[in-house]
Amino acid sequence: MKAVETISWDDDEGAVTFIDQTQLPGHYRLVRCRSVDRLISGIRRLEVRGAPALGVAGAYGVVLASRKIKEKEHSRFMRALWVEAARIRGARPTAVNLSTGVDFVMRAVEDAHSVSAARADSLHAARLFASADARACRELGTHGASLIRGRTAVLTHCNAGALACSEWGTALGVVRSAVEAGAEVQVFACETRPLLQGARLTAWELQRDGIPVTVIPDSSAAFLMKRGEVDIVIVGADRITTDAVFNKIGTYMHAVSARFHGIPFYVAAPLSTFDPGRSGGDVTIEERDRKEVASCGGAVTVPEGVDVRNYAFDLTPHELVTAFITDIGVIEPPVDWEKIETARRAGGM
Ligand code: MRU
Repeated sequence: MKAVETISWDDDEGAVTFIDQTQLPGHYRLVRCRSVDRLISGIRRLEVRGAPALGVAGAYGVVLASRKIKEKEHSRFMRALWVEAARIRGARPTAVNLSTGVDFVMRAVEDAHSVSAARADSLHAARLFASADARACRELGTHGASLIRGRTAVLTHCNAGALACSEWGTALGVVRSAVEAGAEVQVFACETRPLLQGARLTAWELQRDGIPVTVIPDSSAAFLMKRGEVDIVIVGADRITTDAVFNKIGTYMHAVSARFHGIPFYVAAPLSTFDPGRSGGDVTIEERDRKEVASCGGAVTVPEGVDVRNYAFDLTPHELVTAFITDIGVIEPPVDWEKIETARRAGGM
């Protein structure tokens, strides 16, 4: 099975290339992005999205910045690069992978002694980061596949697939690896209001791979669980702090429902999504534009003047998580943070 390649570096064009996810499933359009400003607007508009893909975008963003900065003197060049790195990091606040990707490349260029060496080192490091992400998804897929035997109905939320990573996916990476290993998997994709990443993106990529998928309104998940139609829940994560999992708004209600119905609730995420030493209260939850909620298919759905809340993410406490499916294995809470930190350091994070 070959999942889509979501984001890559185009050497001939000196550009980051990514699939414009705002256009799916109707149109498959590649964006060739040559500037940091364009990358930041693509991140904010969710053309490129999903925590691991944001990490790779951040890493390549530093490469773009290194090529655009005109300073020839090395320390002035580095000062300008730090400013650009901070701008990229701030494009979306919740997914930690964006900072992880930027910082990974910045650490690699710190020791360069010239502008040209810094430029070359940044591209080398960004490529390393992207290939490490692809490898981590395959590895966590293999670990997660051991939890899925025979005919299994998996419920997932948002899109934690190839489109959210450089390829393969986290929650959907587990599904892909299980299918490759011979399991018969049926996926319930929650549509994921308001931007419909589940309906548009999860359904698109699973259909492309021939994996059976059924889209359900977010509000029917608990009912399907009660009817015994869901065997396990697997979601991705945008950030895992010492006490909570940040993921797409709606994840928490699935975790609560799964616990009530005695269904295992797994979080699939690479080490780049773990944020050691931080707790949930330290993290900014992105709030997005009113119009994402107040309109649908071009029509106004909420009366003018009525308030709307549009949090992009929620927090699920570790106690509701059956286990974390990671590239270093399946980890039951309480998380051994020392082990996580050691493995992250070994991976240069
Ligand atoms: O706002 P998005 O579409 O970037 O949110 C994405 C999610 O919440 C995903 O579930 C998460 O990034 C995990 S992706 C492997």
